[in-house]
Amino acid sequence: MSAIDNKLIDRLRKAKKVAVLTGAGISAESGVPTFRGNDGLWKKFRAEELATVDAFMDNPALVWEWYLFRRDLMSKVEPNPGHYALVELENLFNDFTLITQNVDGLHRRAGSKNILELHGNITLNKCFDCGKAFEGTVDISLGELPKCACGGKIRPDVVWFGELLPAAAINKAFEASQEAEVFLSIGTSAIVHPAASLPVEAKRHGACLVEINLDPTPLTALADYAYQGKSGEILPQIVERLKS
Ligand code: OAD
Repeated sequence: MSAIDNKLIDRLRKAKKVAVLTGAGISAESGVPTFRGNDGLWKKFRAEELATVDAFMDNPALVWEWYLFRRDLMSKVEPNPGHYALVELENLFNDFTLITQNVDGLHRRAGSKNILELHGNITLNKCFDCGKAFEGTVDISLGELPKCACGGKIRPDVVWFGELLPAAAINKAFEASQEAEVFLSIGTSAIVHPAASLPVEAKRHGACLVEINLDPTPLTALADYAYQGKSGEILPQIVERLKS
């Protein structure tokens, strides 16, 4: 694993505004499968085949089966050292924005505060038609899926491919990215837009761009510092160096 560059530590020490984008990779060490890794398929389906309005219209029970499987898995896992290192990092800066594509809620459980959840939250449900929050439980074994008072089908409150991201969250994410002096892209394949545009936007506005990922991504060539390895190992090293 690469040692953390002194120049990056200096840059972070001088920075007032820091933004971070996380993807499924940060939760991999907690036991949550990534989307595009070897364990990314559920049954024989890719995320792009299930996380869509069309898939839900065609077969809501199948889509729900996938979400309930993931919801159950995510309820049993714990934040890992990568999540906790980001909590410590937040405490070192006055202006720190954590933008996540993850729906697992692990950043919040770890203790991060200023979080923008771009793709929603897997624990929440809403009406497919009117968007109203639905508090009840969803049990597909009952045969019939729950419906809203308006008659619409209940769906998970997450963003699907082809849907717009929550406007307030994505607007704030772009703003934080444009203002950041240092931007860290962590555990994301950096191919799903608009989230994948955020690091590019940060760099275009002068941020020092840092990538932490097991593998190279389309962002690696653009990064000022690219660390190849586990976020649960590299992030705590950065925090230790900053605190020493
Ligand atoms: P991906 O599964 O596309 O990418 C995960 C990235 O994390 C890969 O580049 C891995 O190499 C890396 N990785 C795996 N383990 C790691 C570790 N321990 N430390 C650091 N890096 C690690 O996941 P996302 O980029 O989050 O959207 O995917 C983006 C979006 O596509 C998701 O939010 C989801 C998905 O389909 C929707 O459902 C709308």
